[in-house]
Parts: sequence; structure tokens; C-alpha cells
Amino acid sequence: MSTLITNIGELVTNAPTAAPEDGPGPFQAFSGAALVVDGGRIAWTGPAARAPAADEIVDARGRAVLPGFVDSHAHLVFAGERSAEFAARMAGQPYAAGGIHVTVAATRAASDMTLRANLRRLSDEMVRQGTTTHECKSGYGLTVRDEARSLMLAAELTPEVTYLGAHVVPPEFAGDPAGYLELVRGPMLAACAPYAKWIDVFCEEGAFGADEAAAVLAAGHAAGLTPRVHANQLRPGPGVRIAVEAGAASADHCTFLTDADVAALASSGTVATLLPGVEFSCRQPFPDARRLLGAGVTVALATDCNPGSCYTSSMALCVALAVREMGMTTEEAVWSATAGGARALRRTDIGHLGAGARADILMLDAPSHTYLAYRPGVPLTAAVWRDGRLAAARPELLTP
Ligand code: NIG
Ligand code: FE
Repeated sequence: MSTLITNIGELVTNAPTAAPEDGPGPFQAFSGAALVVDGGRIAWTGPAARAPAADEIVDARGRAVLPGFVDSHAHLVFAGERSAEFAARMAGQPYAAGGIHVTVAATRAASDMTLRANLRRLSDEMVRQGTTTHECKSGYGLTVRDEARSLMLAAELTPEVTYLGAHVVPPEFAGDPAGYLELVRGPMLAACAPYAKWIDVFCEEGAFGADEAAAVLAAGHAAGLTPRVHANQLRPGPGVRIAVEAGAASADHCTFLTDADVAALASSGTVATLLPGVEFSCRQPFPDARRLLGAGVTVALATDCNPGSCYTSSMALCVALAVREMGMTTEEAVWSATAGGARALRRTDIGHLGAGARADILMLDAPSHTYLAYRPGVPLTAAVWRDGRLAAARPELLTP
């Protein structure tokens, strides 16, 4: 069954400029457009006046249509919450990575059913806000059993599953960090690799150092996982360099960068994934996206949704913060939240609406993408299609 979405006020396509297998192209938007979905894929885009017939017609009535958001960084498998830490930060305390232990204890104690329910709630919350693909990390289990079950649960919802056994050293290994590293690179990796596509490490003072991070990524790579890194979140450090040297798909956070870090990213295939919700929720300085874009670095935006440093699932908020606080134009921010996320996940079938792309579509209750930043905090989702199927909608906006 084919669906024609017509009378689109602004259609953002980011369509591939060369071969479709190259994935998203630059930001592109058209007015007075239409698109056809067939078999879960984008079959056609063009001027509404020239649209072909279809089995079903949706009248966008001048609303904007975008590729669904691609949230390439999220920690959704956990139990409990840490609102008191957030309140303490707002009262002047700094963010402390030690808070992770609180979530680890709650996660270990939770049943599969509880973890699955939490995960589904957050994943559904994302879809309702226009996110059609999200990544999901482990990292709150930190035992062989709890990391493997975290990934097994994540794999029920997304193919973009990341093993983050190297999040922090858990309390039972406090006196033996080397022993924990052996576990992460050995038996834990063996138990987790079958469920995961990616391996991540928190490379930061108080978590894992340069040599440890490189060793974790190398072991993951040998087990068939592709690296990504939590890098330079709290202070300058070796994370970005380690990510680039490991051929990581993405270096995430990138809040404190040296010129050498920016140059390394620019001459690599590693995407810089910025997480402005973290700076917002930790009252930290925002990274300078202009510096990265000016150097030619590919920039993605993601939520980092987690109970500690940033508990938002809203890509729209990230777009608004990137525009207001990080110097991005509205076009750059929307590109980074869609096509940029696809690049960070090395996906060519999402993040754009070129012919052949997955029909992952966000219709806004607004005439252009600019409204995502122009109307911050306002729920603007009119409808979301995933794989060509309606996944969320305000039905009153779709009926004639
Ligand atoms: O991406 N930086 C490390 N991990 C998470 C925070 C985890 C937590 O505080 O629970 C992050 O910010
Ligand atoms: Fe994170």
C-alpha cells in the first residue's frame, strides 16, 4: 500500500547528492512539496503539483516534513532516578561521575520486567517526539550477567546496541581496576558481543585512562564491535585522540577540545557527537559547534538520555540548545539531529528522505524546521511514521 503525503509546507530531504549508498547529503528543503511512501521506503519526492497517484492521501496542510530524528547516544536500560543530584547541581554542586554507582545498584536489583518497562517507556517517549532511530547503551550493570541482560533488552528495541562495560569501575573492583578491565575485555565482552554492534568507553579522569580505553576498544574491535567513545566531557583529555586512533564512528560529548583534538577529528572519519542536554543539565559551558563546523568536522546532535547527567529524550530540545547556545544555524542543527546521527551510526538508509530511504518521517505541527528552535519546549509532533507505518500521531491534525 502506497501513501502520498501532499501539501507539505517545507520538505527537508537531506537527500544523497551522489549514489543512495553514500547516505544523507547536505541540508536540503523544498516548499510546496509532496512525497510517496511505498513498502516502507521513500518512493518519490517532488513538487505537489506533479505527485503520482497513491492508495492513500495525507494532506499536510502546509506543515513541515522532516526525516525522523536519529538519536545516536542514549542510556535507556536502568532503574531508579537521580533527581536529587540534579537539584544539588542547580544549587552549585558539580556533576560527579560517581552518581553512576547509584544507578548501577538500582539496575542490578531490578527485574528484567522492570528494566524492560522503563526502556520501552523511554523509547516510546522518543518516538512520540519524532525520534525514529535511537542507539542504546549498557553500562549500568557492570557484571557479566547484568551487562548481557541490558544489551539483550536493548536489542529487543533497536539494532543500534552499544556495550559500555567500561563505564566506571564498579565498587566490588574498587581495589582492583586492572582486574575489572580484564573482565570487560574478556568474559564480559564474550557474553555481550552477540547482542551488540558497538563498543563504548568512558575515557575521563575517574573512569578510564587513555591506555585502558584503547585496550577496551581494541578488544571490542577484535570481537567484531565498532568503537565509539565518551570523550572530553568534563575536562580536556585523551578521549578524542583515542577515538580517532581507534577509527571510532563517533567521539561523544566533545565539550573540552584542544586545537589538536579539532584537527584530529577534521582529518578522520570520526563524527563529533554533541550532547547539549548534558551541558544544560549539568550547568556546564556548551561546546563551540562553530569551531568544529569551521574545521570541517561532521557534527551530530544526540540526547544522551540517562538518569544522571541529562534526563531528556527530546531531540527538539537539543536542536533548540544547539541553535541558541552552540552557534549552529537552524539548518545545521536539524541536519546534525537527523543526517548527522545517521553518520554517527554509519547508516545510509536513515537521516534523509531521498528515494530508497527508510520511510522514517516526522511531520511537525508547524510550517518549517525553524520552529523546533523558534518554539522551544512546545510539543510540535503532528505525526511520525516509522518504516512507513504511522507510529505516533495527533489524529485530529491528519483527518480532513
Ligand atoms: O554520557 N559520561 C558518562 N556517562 C553518562 C552519564 C551517566 C550517569 O551520570 O549516569 C553520560 O553523561
Ligand atoms: Fe553518555
